[in-house]
Amino acid sequence: MVATDSLKDFDPDLYALIQSETSRQEHELEMIPSENFVSEAVLEACGSVLTNKYAEGRPRKRYYGGCEFCDDVEELAEKRAKELFGAEFVNAQAHSGATANQAVFETFLSPGDTVMGMKLDHGGHLTHGHKVNFSGKHYNVVAYGVNDSDHLISEDEVMSLAKEHQPRMIIAGASAYSRRIDFEMFKRAADEVGAVLLCDIAHYAGLVAAGEYPSPVPHADIVTTTTHKTLRGPRSGLIMGKAEHAKGIHKSVFPGLQGGPHMHTIAAKAVAFKEALAPEFKTYAKNVIANARVLAKELMDKGLNIVSNGTDSHLLVIDVRPAKLTGKVASACLEKVNITGNMNTIPFDPEPPMVCSGVRLGTPALTTRGMGAEEMKTVAKIIVSALENHNDDDALKKLKEESIELCKSFPLYRHRLEKSSVDKESNGYAVSAM
Ligand SMILES: Cc1ncc(COP(=O)(O)O)c(C=O)c1O
Repeated sequence: MVATDSLKDFDPDLYALIQSETSRQEHELEMIPSENFVSEAVLEACGSVLTNKYAEGRPRKRYYGGCEFCDDVEELAEKRAKELFGAEFVNAQAHSGATANQAVFETFLSPGDTVMGMKLDHGGHLTHGHKVNFSGKHYNVVAYGVNDSDHLISEDEVMSLAKEHQPRMIIAGASAYSRRIDFEMFKRAADEVGAVLLCDIAHYAGLVAAGEYPSPVPHADIVTTTTHKTLRGPRSGLIMGKAEHAKGIHKSVFPGLQGGPHMHTIAAKAVAFKEALAPEFKTYAKNVIANARVLAKELMDKGLNIVSNGTDSHLLVIDVRPAKLTGKVASACLEKVNITGNMNTIPFDPEPPMVCSGVRLGTPALTTRGMGAEEMKTVAKIIVSALENHNDDDALKKLKEESIELCKSFPLYRHRLEKSSVDKESNGYAVSAM
């Protein structure tokens, strides 16, 4: 191999796989709320020569030579993130949301300590104390949920569990909770028992950055996030918080958990932060939420239930029981019509997690493509029709074509597709997977 060989020339097999994935993204309605489509600028930074560089340590205090440009890159990323969220310190090295959370556990807790987080089956995340995850294996977990009546987090429950169990750390944040989280209330609970408050805004970060969702930064000791969901950056993590905790967090990330930072990803995060600082990003975030609300309303008008009867964010969880389906069957059915979402438990789900009664959908990716209220109405129609006709392959095939037509009106990475595969996809993709 020579350094100048293109991927296509050197490894046509892998090149073809990436073409196929590009085509899939181009032709499917991407509605997984934790996914988004990054800009060409973010992709370029991700694919840059920064991937070659080891830069263990903090900027200006590295263990390797040749880090002068990496120092600048990382400082730029930190400066932009601080401006975006108003944080006192930032660590941009966390490889992912899970690693960011692990670093916080390492900083403040010892194995066996008590932690309070949201139940996974009510909308929480694995790293907030689930038994199969490090957080549930090594720590004593007390979990809060939502009310049965309105599916909202209850201050009474959070307060009384905190007083009873005296956790060392309380986690606010979720993966499938569509309503506003009252971070101030969580701060009151943490102060009541002298606990550290960790707010994980992995899902809401882009909305928070745009001022469209409450910011936990003024209240929390530490805020963690992913950078690839509503924030629309590369797949990665970020930690920020009060200055007094900076040293401990930096040490937990390196050398505590990670080795060399992924400088190409940190560069791509810097690009995404610049994009999020621009005024257009505020419009984007507003549209994400407006689209989710239209979608929720349309689905409810058509007879489906939505957990908590609506949404304040980018996501919604559909209770598919009115359609006499399980979450598993419903999400498989939506996949057949090129709508990519995921099955999800609903609060107090009567079904086991691998069957469940819900489907989680989100609007960040479709909004990035430029879709608005009208398109959400079309998507709602396709969803309801697909669920009604889940056993009718001909009907599903027609609905799949409708999804593809909608995608074609909002091109995404079309310029990245080879002419031959564009032709093949537009003719063949619509039916090939049926
Ligand atoms: C609330 C929350 N925290 C953490 C994570 C983990 O992020 P990652 O997949 O980058 O490790 C997720 C991912 O979905 C999440 O929703």
